[in-house]
Amino acid sequence: MDFAELAALASGHAEARAIQTALKLGIFDMLERSPLDDADLATAISANRRATALIANAMVALGLLDKRANRYSLTEASQRYLLRSSAEYLGGLILFDEAIFQTWTNLEQTIRTGLPARATDMFQSRPEETERFIRAMDSLTRARGDPAYVANRLDLSKVSKVADLGGGPGTYTVALLRRWPHLRGAIYDLPATLEVARKILAEREPAALERIDLVRVDYLYDEIPGPCGALFMSNIIHNEDETDNAQLFRKCFRALESGGMLIVKDHIMNADLTQPRPGAIFALYLLLTTRGRDYSFDEVSRWLRDAGFVDIRHEALPSPPFTSSMVTARKPK
Ligand SMILES: C[S@@+](CC[C@H](N)C(=O)[O-])C[C@H]1O[C@@H](n2cnc3c(N)ncnc32)[C@H](O)[C@@H]1O
Repeated sequence: MDFAELAALASGHAEARAIQTALKLGIFDMLERSPLDDADLATAISANRRATALIANAMVALGLLDKRANRYSLTEASQRYLLRSSAEYLGGLILFDEAIFQTWTNLEQTIRTGLPARATDMFQSRPEETERFIRAMDSLTRARGDPAYVANRLDLSKVSKVADLGGGPGTYTVALLRRWPHLRGAIYDLPATLEVARKILAEREPAALERIDLVRVDYLYDEIPGPCGALFMSNIIHNEDETDNAQLFRKCFRALESGGMLIVKDHIMNADLTQPRPGAIFALYLLLTTRGRDYSFDEVSRWLRDAGFVDIRHEALPSPPFTSSMVTARKPK
């Protein structure tokens, strides 16, 4: 690694914080209709003119705004990912990262103690936190395209019901139903999340909502309702510890029909737990906020085998843009 790469990595929080703040202030949305100079932009976001110019200049330096004749305008990237009106809006994730930024200041203490820096409540305790968290998941995967990619990759032609365990906003469920029109879907999740899922689906996918059952399931304490031809779980096992994951796979096995398919999408790590790089970094966020971490294929396949699954396969996804991969397994006939 050379000096420039190290220096950029070590001060990356400054860029992240600047983008989060520009988005939160509404700078990108304010430029949707027409370019503005610093005075008009400052008025539009109710901020100080000199400071607004400095953050707008920083966005120009990062390629998220253009500046011509002292007027700021959107770039292709900011139009695509940073406008609330865009179908690929990444803002839900960026605003979530903005809200949990303080949590990262506890990293030293968490490394010393091994204890999380906040309640490991999956953001279920306050409605505004639940909504921010669930919209973050929706925004990330819609902008990146994981759900459509995964739906095309899986063969669900012989499955009649797919359940999305910890399905959150239902972004994957909708993509699976769109790709496989004969399917019926279910989202199994916690009550506060289901409320947000219902709101998002009613806003955006009212037709799909008729084919999706929203079912309260706490997968740590309840049995998984079955029978299902396929069970899909994305970004679930990384929130839980080893014991709970082994038990969860046993529950999934019981809920599946004979021959049924389990699909686990997550950062699946190498045996050393050092690659892929986004997974190794994300594991620190998980340390701060959950009981989990990212697991290796060896660990995941051992839990699956012990639960009775066969045909256990690791399926890579193209990276970039994707940072996670899939493990698929079958319940024997
Ligand atoms: C990281 S999000 C993943 C959402 C979605 N699967 C995705 O990948 O975009 C984790 C999801 O698991 C749900 N969840 C967490 N703990 C749960 C539990 N004990 N029982 C059911 N769902 C749970 C959360 O409410 C949330 O929707």
